[in-house]
Amino acid sequence: MVSSRRVTTSDDMEISTYLEIAEELRGGQPLPREEPLGREREAVAVIDFGSQYSMLIARRVRECHVYCELLPHDAAWERVASLHPKGFILSGGPASVYDPGAPLAPDYVYESGLPILGICYGLQVLTHQLGGRVAPGMRCEYGHAILHQNATESPIFAGLPPSMTVWMSHGDRIEEVPPGFTTIAFTENSPIAAMGNGHGIIGLQFHPEVAHTPQGKTILENFLYKICGCQGTWTPGNFVVESVRGIREEVSGGKVICALSGGVDSAVTATLVHHAIGDQLTCIFVNNGLLRREEDERILNTFQRNMKMNLIYVDATDRFLEKLNGVIDPEVKRRVVGEEFIRVFEEEAARIGKVDFLAQGTLYPDVIESVSPESRASAKIKTHHNVGGLPKTMTLTLLEPLRYLFKDEVREVGLELGLPEEMVWRQPFPGPGLAIRIIGEVTRERLETLRAADWIVMNEIKKANLYRQLWQSFAVLPDVRSVGVMGDYRTYGHVVAIRAVTSEDAMTADWARLPYDLLARISNRIANEVPGVNRVVYDISSKPPSTIEWE
Ligand code: XMP
Repeated sequence: MVSSRRVTTSDDMEISTYLEIAEELRGGQPLPREEPLGREREAVAVIDFGSQYSMLIARRVRECHVYCELLPHDAAWERVASLHPKGFILSGGPASVYDPGAPLAPDYVYESGLPILGICYGLQVLTHQLGGRVAPGMRCEYGHAILHQNATESPIFAGLPPSMTVWMSHGDRIEEVPPGFTTIAFTENSPIAAMGNGHGIIGLQFHPEVAHTPQGKTILENFLYKICGCQGTWTPGNFVVESVRGIREEVSGGKVICALSGGVDSAVTATLVHHAIGDQLTCIFVNNGLLRREEDERILNTFQRNMKMNLIYVDATDRFLEKLNGVIDPEVKRRVVGEEFIRVFEEEAARIGKVDFLAQGTLYPDVIESVSPESRASAKIKTHHNVGGLPKTMTLTLLEPLRYLFKDEVREVGLELGLPEEMVWRQPFPGPGLAIRIIGEVTRERLETLRAADWIVMNEIKKANLYRQLWQSFAVLPDVRSVGVMGDYRTYGHVVAIRAVTSEDAMTADWARLPYDLLARISNRIANEVPGVNRVVYDISSKPPSTIEWE
């Protein structure tokens, strides 16, 4: 049986009231309400030639508080123009300008008269297209190099020492700069490691965007601020102001639904949309009974009690556990939980009546990685095409206010909106929840055992100030029993495994070298405080060959 609770804020509540509530949550700090940027916020277009570092360039530019978008090298001018760029960055890429059909910069890049920064392949493209000479590399240059500035002072190196460490990763190199350019820096293996024309066009053979180039951020800042004339106005506060206006315009008088999971992305999405349109938004939170201790209360507290959101809370624990009864295959668990979520969500959404939009926490990396990002932006989607699962009869427009943000920016926006730190910095948690951390059958008893152990792991990791440094840290309940001794008695109890990993993006992960005394405390507490557990082990496997989750 699904029991649902609905709490509705009063219909006549003004948007301004919501803003005031958010202000209260933020300790009285007013949110910026004035339009500080005008329609044309400052931006830079990053032309992507397919480098593994392209996304990193975009992140670094954003870290300099300048908005940018990563655009394919064949992007139409109209699309680029809508950004009102103050400059272009040409990324690196795997091609050689001599390859047949090698990607080149579109003419508008040069015709715009705007500053251009070519990085690695981007430098070679500049050289090739502007009349210089690129030589096929006899050997690759990969790794650290010492860059020496020539006597000519270029604003790109303003404030930097005459020599500095940079990171190289290239095959071809520049033999001759184009007419009007001079060499502004060299390394032992690259006589032309940086060039400029004195009119805002700069090429760098090395990668300023990677951490291995310690002064890279200053180099990018110099390009953005000193050469493009940007002011660094891309801040979470400004993003909130712009998004609120955009959401209000787009939604107008329509109705929006949003599935809250407790994760950062959906939490920030819901808060932002709520901020913009108040009770035109309804959130649905399905408690599948597979959450960690206190997680459901935290969500209710934050969104329902503090923010006074329209929140439909569905405690569907019984329903999920019934479906999981006897299921031990991990993929079947995933399917069962996913399908049941869709059913519950559909049922609840159908009760709301006519809905126009579905708000989703899609982030920029997903957009970049998808084949045709823009075609999805405003596409009308049919229920069954959507991962969230919606009533079959509904045609909804996706509302994705975070689709141009990176994860760290989403966190900053969350804090700006007054979300609790705990929610903003929450480690990733899988949709199928504890079901895939209980090896074998998922029962209420085993869920309780795992919740109690997991609670201790999380508490101790937080106390040791390691929570944010770890990608994930949690407990697993294997389907194993072992012999132990407690007092004078032999026990035959459960084993709990601790899993803690560091990672950048979950594609690969390393097991965390947690301090021994922390592991000892966790082990001791679990064995003493969690009934039925007499053994604790630490998982020292990395991904690959393991995965982060056990199932
Ligand atoms: P693995 O275990 O494959 O996990 O190394 C990589 C990341 O994905 C999360 N994960 C999931 N998230 N549904 C989700 O929403 C799933 O079925 C699922 N399986 C794994 C995992 O927690 C880690 O962050």
